[in-house]
Amino acid sequence: MMQVILCLLQDVAIKQLDRNGVQGNREFLVEVLMLSLLHHPNLVNLIGYCADGDQRLLVYEYMPLGSVEDHLHDLSPGKKPLDWNTRMKIAAGAARGLEYLHDKAKPPVIYRDLKCSNILLDRGYHPKLSDFGLAKLGPVGDNTHVSTRVMGTYGYCAPEYAKTGQLTLKSDVYSFGVVLLEILSGRKAVDTSKAAAEQSLVAWARPLFQDRTRHSLIADPELQGQYPPRGFYQALAVAAMCVHEQPDMRPVIADVVTALAYLASQKYESDAEKVQSPCLDPGTPTRTKGDKERKLNGGRGSERERTRKLK
Ligand SMILES: Nc1ncnc2c1ncn2[C@@H]1O[C@H](COP(=O)(O)OP(=O)(O)OP(=O)(O)O)[C@@H](O)[C@H]1O
Ligand SMILES: [Mg+2]
Repeated sequence: MMQVILCLLQDVAIKQLDRNGVQGNREFLVEVLMLSLLHHPNLVNLIGYCADGDQRLLVYEYMPLGSVEDHLHDLSPGKKPLDWNTRMKIAAGAARGLEYLHDKAKPPVIYRDLKCSNILLDRGYHPKLSDFGLAKLGPVGDNTHVSTRVMGTYGYCAPEYAKTGQLTLKSDVYSFGVVLLEILSGRKAVDTSKAAAEQSLVAWARPLFQDRTRHSLIADPELQGQYPPRGFYQALAVAAMCVHEQPDMRPVIADVVTALAYLASQKYESDAEKVQSPCLDPGTPTRTKGDKERKLNGGRGSERERTRKLK
């Protein structure tokens, strides 16, 4: 259960753990241990904790914009959907948090519970990973995996980990791919309200990865076509590699960071922004015929582009 209270010096969020015996207590200890040792701008800060009798409380810095999930799914009326630049900023920041756990922490840490509700947003949509109760110290020496009970969240769990319980850094990369797909598509990792073929995001998206003419079917309708097609294709390619069935074929998180940091640095100007600042400065690239066509039909893309989307 999560409560948010106001302290004199800083806003904090307090998590009261369910009093459910051994597992709850273990998660509490792991959370406190991990967050006391690990510090990075893309990890949430633990301010304090309380263990008294069977009461277990965790006190975190307050993340004013909630979780990524709150901004992607079931938006309340009037809540603005995330724009393209913000989505890329969130994806790149979350990948940096994971890179810290995998590559900078000694020994490496496998996060095991990467999902949109565990990526919290600070002011300016700065993302921070939270909830380390399931985290595991990664393999050391020549070992490539640690064996463990299968835990985590359905829909984000790498298939080989679900089958064998063998946990590797690549299990986290798979979960990251699912998160990236959610950010690009606005769909949930698992959505039982959809038709059977569309319930699993990965199973639904996989056949579409191969066919470039159908990529726009994956794009979140809330983006209203306001994204760079090339950047979208590149981000989708990263997601496709991360959710590869074979763990060895998935990229290491450092390469994901490089790709997403580049995409986040390429600021996309929406049609509305272009209309608001029509004065061209000397550095502004000349408008293309495609741009003009998009404007003329209300920002919905050229006739040819729209036909392609409908295919
Ligand atoms: N530090 C925080 N600041 C502000 N809001 C927070 C903070 N931590 C969590 N929340 C909010 O509380 C919600 C619930 O978090 P919680 O970790 O209890 O559950 P969950 O992430 O949805 O699921 P799980 O229990 O599997 O982690 C989050 O989705 C987020 O909106
Ligand atoms: Mg959580």
